[in-house]
Amino acid sequence: MGAVNQAHLAVEETIFEALGACYAAVLPEERREGIAVIDIGAQSTQLVVYYGDALHLASTVRICGDHFTRDLAQGLCLSFEDAELVKLEYGAALSEPSPENVLVDLPTPENRDHRHATRRFVNQIIEARAEELFRFVRSELARVGMDRALMGGVFLTGGAARLPDLCDVAERVLQCQARFGLPFGIQDWPETLNDPEWSTAAGLAMYSAKLKAQEQRATAGWLGKLLK
Ligand SMILES: Nc1ncnc2c1ncn2[C@@H]1O[C@H](COP(=O)(O)OP(=O)(O)O)[C@@H](O)[C@H]1O
Ligand SMILES: [Mg+2]
Repeated sequence: MGAVNQAHLAVEETIFEALGACYAAVLPEERREGIAVIDIGAQSTQLVVYYGDALHLASTVRICGDHFTRDLAQGLCLSFEDAELVKLEYGAALSEPSPENVLVDLPTPENRDHRHATRRFVNQIIEARAEELFRFVRSELARVGMDRALMGGVFLTGGAARLPDLCDVAERVLQCQARFGLPFGIQDWPETLNDPEWSTAAGLAMYSAKLKAQEQRATAGWLGKLLK
């Protein structure tokens, strides 16, 4: 929504972002098997669950992209901005694949000695938070009796879904298949936007196009009747 306002566009309709992502990234037949979309943004994470043709749950998860950054800032004594750089450059949601002896350079303020951390430590911090995120999702699923019913699996969307190995942590905690929710179904969608961060935008565009088409059909129907 921030992006829309910054672009000075008027908002005609608001829709839950994870619903938009689901619209763009999940086929209706997959949706029927039981799926969840987890849209992980900077300051909010949203969860939607479908089974059959029914929307079973639309809720907010309190752990989001900024939490990973804040944890790194605290654990490594960095500013938020520097921690974000470390996350984007070295971050992954599994710590075990990083050898214990690989060091990463930490951004250092002027007049301070250069500092390092092991890549494994960076990723241990991230892994702990990723586990917490999916445990929270698991409890939300259990609340509506869907914790062992996602035969279609979970789809991760949003910028923070780009964190390497996040799907592995989701599978470990939720015990079902996890994959990126990538947008499809828009003609001429640029290859560079083929990314989980853009699924929401794609879904909102598709939804808006559908509303417009319905509006046009309704108007045509009215006019048709008037002119008969
Ligand atoms: N490659 C990446 N690895 C880890 N996190 C990332 C990556 N790219 C973006 N993010 C995180 O994604 C979040 C932004 O996601 P986005 O969907 O753009 O947010 P919002 O929808 O809230 O505007 C930020 O927390 C950012 O740090
Ligand atoms: Mg987003």
